[in-house]
Amino acid sequence: MKIEVAENAGFCFGVRRAISLALDAAREYGEVYTLGELIHNEIVVDRLDKKGVHAVDDLSMCRGRSVVLRSHGVPRKVEEQARKECRAVIDATCPFVKKIHDIAGSLPESAKLIVIGDGGHPEVKGIVGHAACRAFSCKDKAELESLFESGEIGSADKVAVVSQTTFDRSRFADLSEQVRERYGCVEIFDTVCDATAKRQESARGLARRAALMIVVGGRSSSNTRKLAEICGQYCKTVFVSCAAELPMQALKGLRSDSIIGITAGASTPADTIKEVHEKMNKEIINNNENEEDFASLLEQDQSFNRLYTGKRVKATVVSVSKKEAVVEVGAKQTGYITREELSNDPNAEVEDIVKPGDVIDAVVIKVDDSVGTAALSKKRVDAALGLEKLEAVKESGETIEGNVAQVVKGGVIVIYENTRVFIPASHTGVPRGGKLDDLKGKSVKFKIIEVSNERGGRVVGSIRQANREQRDAERAKFWETIEVGQKFEGEVRSIENYGVFVDIGPIDGLVHTADLTWNRVGHPKDIVKIGDKINVVVKSFDPEKKRVSLTAKDPEDNPWTKFTADYAVGDVIKATIVSITEFGAFAQIIPGVDGLIHISQISAERVADINTVLKVGQEVEVKIIDIDEEKNRVSLSIRALSESKPSESEE
Ligand code: F3S
Repeated sequence: MKIEVAENAGFCFGVRRAISLALDAAREYGEVYTLGELIHNEIVVDRLDKKGVHAVDDLSMCRGRSVVLRSHGVPRKVEEQARKECRAVIDATCPFVKKIHDIAGSLPESAKLIVIGDGGHPEVKGIVGHAACRAFSCKDKAELESLFESGEIGSADKVAVVSQTTFDRSRFADLSEQVRERYGCVEIFDTVCDATAKRQESARGLARRAALMIVVGGRSSSNTRKLAEICGQYCKTVFVSCAAELPMQALKGLRSDSIIGITAGASTPADTIKEVHEKMNKEIINNNENEEDFASLLEQDQSFNRLYTGKRVKATVVSVSKKEAVVEVGAKQTGYITREELSNDPNAEVEDIVKPGDVIDAVVIKVDDSVGTAALSKKRVDAALGLEKLEAVKESGETIEGNVAQVVKGGVIVIYENTRVFIPASHTGVPRGGKLDDLKGKSVKFKIIEVSNERGGRVVGSIRQANREQRDAERAKFWETIEVGQKFEGEVRSIENYGVFVDIGPIDGLVHTADLTWNRVGHPKDIVKIGDKINVVVKSFDPEKKRVSLTAKDPEDNPWTKFTADYAVGDVIKATIVSITEFGAFAQIIPGVDGLIHISQISAERVADINTVLKVGQEVEVKIIDIDEEKNRVSLSIRALSESKPSESEE
């Protein structure tokens, strides 16, 4: 004999999601209450109760408490009342049911809604309670005909038909077709849930081949009862809520090559199905020692491919909220990943990290088999992958970029590939006493200087090292490309007696006082101040000594050019004495061009002390007696003027 578990047996997406939300809420609020049992399975309800998810019959029992709306949904009024009276409302209504609520709520008041389903079922009550028009329910032909005969539909402008999500699709098609034949304007919405249809189809397919079908689920679960009904049409079928109820006498009379099929309702947890499977397996082996060991088949069965803490899995994101992402793992397991376990970045929002449909790598951090959910972590997988990548980055010496997510004691945290990299304050590049907060939210370039696997992994980075390397590279390039005559706009960094240092990028160059301007300069600070931007030209450079000599004099303003154009030897001009030395006096001809009146050229008489004949600031008439264009020197003479004048006797 062979045991086969039907595909799509057990928890559906909506049930797993509801359980997951309820457990989360119980963790957050301590205890939560569900209006009626969260799912129609006594075992699960009992387990949930022990975990702080309690079922109550009436909303009045939830006042001031936290309430979970079940996957079946509730009428609009109940939801509104819950929001008014309860501490918190956790809406675990299955998204497929919510869609029907939306259809019902969007109908015009003049329309009529027929819900094909069991009027006593909470899902149908919820749908009727969301209708914006009059709504009726009927589950079979007889109920539909009596609705027709009642005349309640009358001459509605529009008749809409929806289905309970767990209704048999072919029966829905029949009944809705009858509505179409009866009324003029009919809109039919096939809202049978695919999960239900698929579960029923796979149960039907298996029942066709099986000699015995075991349907596992809560006695009050309508979808499980429906499965039993379907299977019963094809083979002997037993309905059990757990392994203990298995009627082993049902095996009697089965042939040795018979197939025993197992299916389960949407509210049946995986471990209950597994227990049934194991018990059947044991029984068959006991009955026939030579029988194949089905334990190996059990292991191969993907439906029981159990999750365990530390298991790496591929998970599909099914929904996201502010606090978490709900994921599906394989065919049978629901998991959730809290925001904290999604990313290492404390500022990241869930919807920024994942979206429904994403397939992600995650690791199981806690399994709750009793209700079929698991807590997973994405960030731990990312961190492990990140550690590997960062180890390689460290080896290669590459500079990487990331956002400063947090300022912590002693440094900052940068997130790179979802991995936390600690950058000590001394490596941030922020001067001692500076504000690390200024870095928060900024993108920074850094190097990895330490990677260790201890305590879940520790990575240390350095912005300072990256900056230094960048500066070194820029300096190397600077020395390779520098040329005499190259122009820069630089910033005055410091002022000395002999000149100023100007920042021209990777290095500071020196502008000697004499190169600051064409005019005479007393002290550089008379011309510039720290922080001034000035245009400079490279005069010379020494890569060995790492020195660059600059000039701020613009050749176009060169007063010597102007002087040589306007003046010639022999010209008699007015000049102003600007300085007096032992060997003569300097007189300014035009700004930037001074001429020397040598002591011997001051007078025909011998001059012992120049100061007795000339004063600084005095305007004198002089003759240009020599121009040295190579050395940019001008010789002036006062004496030459008296010599060239005719004497009184000559006159
Ligand atoms: Fe939702 Fe379908 Fe399950 S409607 S609760 S996923 S059976």
